[in-house]
Amino acid sequence: MKRSLTALLALGAIAAVALVVAPLSATPLPARSTAPTVDVSLDDDEDAPACHRTEFDTEMVKKACAEGGQFAAKRAMKHFVRAAKKTLSVGNVDCKTCHTGLAPEYALKDDGLTRFNDWKKQLEAAEK
Ligand code: HEC
Repeated sequence: MKRSLTALLALGAIAAVALVVAPLSATPLPARSTAPTVDVSLDDDEDAPACHRTEFDTEMVKKACAEGGQFAAKRAMKHFVRAAKKTLSVGNVDCKTCHTGLAPEYALKDDGLTRFNDWKKQLEAAEK
């Protein structure tokens, strides 16, 4: 009697495990099919390092860094320099006109910020 009760309990346990495992083993399929998309977005995050600066003197870079890290800041800067070259008579300038070095620190020359503000003001005036 005692033995058959044990057997029954064991059967019950197996049944319970099967009930729990069945729905669990059914879920990985849809989960797996969505996994690549999740991975891709995680990769993007890894590829977009935060800006080196944590304090900003310009709204442009501050905003770009907040929205898309250093990649966005670089994009904004390139756009800014292109606009300056096209619109202002600044000559053949490039990143090193204001930066002593580029990634990852983008350290500025002494007059880097002054120059930036100057170009920015001129560009805004030209847009009007
Ligand atoms: C007219 C001067 C000037 C030029 C030219 C310039 N920059 Fe900058 N850049 C600045 C200033 C000023 C800052 C700091 C902005 C702030 O503190 O808000 C800065 C900041 C940056 C940052 C943020 C870095 C960080 O992680 O903190 C990046 C990236 C950057 N510049 C890239 C470039 C690239 C790429 C070029 C060339 C296409 C370039 N800059 C040309 C003035 C300039």
